[in-house]
Amino acid sequence: MHHHSHTRATLGGKMSAVLVAAGSSVGLGNIWRFPYVAGDNGGGAFLVIYILCVVLLGLPLMIAEFTVGRATHRNAVGAYQALDRRWSFLGYNGVIAAFLILGFYFVVSGWTAEYMVHSLTGDLARYTTAEEYSSVYENFIRNPWRPLLYTSLFVLATHFIIELGVQKGIERSAKLLMPLLFVILIALSIHSLLMPGGGEGLRFFFRPDFSKVTPQTFLVALGQAFFSLSIGIGTMVTYASYFKPETNLRHTALNVTILDTLVAVLAGVVIFPAVFSVGIAPTSGPSLVFITLPSIFNGMPLSMVWSSVFFLLLVVAALTSTISLHEVVTAYLHEEWHMSRRAAAWTTTLATLALAAVASLSLGVLDGWTICGLTLFDSLDYLTANILLPVGGLFTCLFVGWRLDRKVLKEQITNHGELKFRIYGVFIFLLRYICPAVLLLIFLDNLGLF
Ligand code: PFF
Repeated sequence: MHHHSHTRATLGGKMSAVLVAAGSSVGLGNIWRFPYVAGDNGGGAFLVIYILCVVLLGLPLMIAEFTVGRATHRNAVGAYQALDRRWSFLGYNGVIAAFLILGFYFVVSGWTAEYMVHSLTGDLARYTTAEEYSSVYENFIRNPWRPLLYTSLFVLATHFIIELGVQKGIERSAKLLMPLLFVILIALSIHSLLMPGGGEGLRFFFRPDFSKVTPQTFLVALGQAFFSLSIGIGTMVTYASYFKPETNLRHTALNVTILDTLVAVLAGVVIFPAVFSVGIAPTSGPSLVFITLPSIFNGMPLSMVWSSVFFLLLVVAALTSTISLHEVVTAYLHEEWHMSRRAAAWTTTLATLALAAVASLSLGVLDGWTICGLTLFDSLDYLTANILLPVGGLFTCLFVGWRLDRKVLKEQITNHGELKFRIYGVFIFLLRYICPAVLLLIFLDNLGLF
């Protein structure tokens, strides 16, 4: 089972495990999706439920995935194969989900790159009303060529880092980009807090409105937590396969979880005061970031600077996440299909680029092609977030909670007895009972049983 480990890369520095895993977790899910989902679902009340999901389900599952990865030193498929062949489907579920997520995530990432460039050139500052920004956005995403250009650039940037390898590519970029992300986010938060009339936005974001909480809210919070933490998909298995023997898995998971939640909350602090300071109703979805914000930035002094910096933040956050998704597929092809890392990376790049291109066109010229009434873009989002991720999470906790040898689990969590884990009993209880039960409820709900 350990025969691969001596040929494989290992992350170097002390903080590397945290930075690399946080790079995967912190992404468009935090900055683009979390604020509007929270705003739509009761603000502060949602935040409380979200944090419960993160602590009770997300954290144990992340530790579980770390365990599988570091115990085997293999890619997502290889890891389950090494532990119990019958559970390999769990690895395949992850590789397929990573591929499909890249199909739409690369498209939105491309938009952020285009908006960053157009902020820098001043093009984005030429309009005034939200209606104008709305048509700019619609015209852009429906255009057959421009999104493809930016998506391709984004795919190539991801490819380049992956080809550099685990240490020189993934680890080095995380060490550079994650601190940059925090600096930008803090600068933007301060700027936002100083805006006149911003307090109302903060009240909207943080005020617990329990009248908006329904059973559905719990499911929305859980789905958001899984997507945001990059859980249920083999990313954390793959990354942990590069962790050092000394890495403390619990602390790493705890730190990543805290950072991810912090970024989500700060994103809300950046966005909502800005939205309220100009008296625009907080609208949901992509329009919050791609329509409402540019029109707000435009009214501010130094608008070009703030909007360039904001979209740079999105680009950085998205890039460290696309790298992690790409690595899941690349590591699988490299180790299981015995391709060179370079060939594996190119295969992943070309395949995801093709999928992303069709997904991008599905919002414009190909919008007649639908799957169950959804465009390809929306069906990729739906299929992964509502089916593949929860399935992955469910079987991961069943596997680690019930099937995996307890000795292996204990060895990984305590680093062969060197670390203490006082709440091991709580952890096992969550993994064996609470996580599967809650996840099953999600499925039943998705199947329309409630
Ligand atoms: N966690 C990323 C985000 O919040 O944007 C998205 C993501 C990355 C999901 C990697 C799943 C994954 F494996």
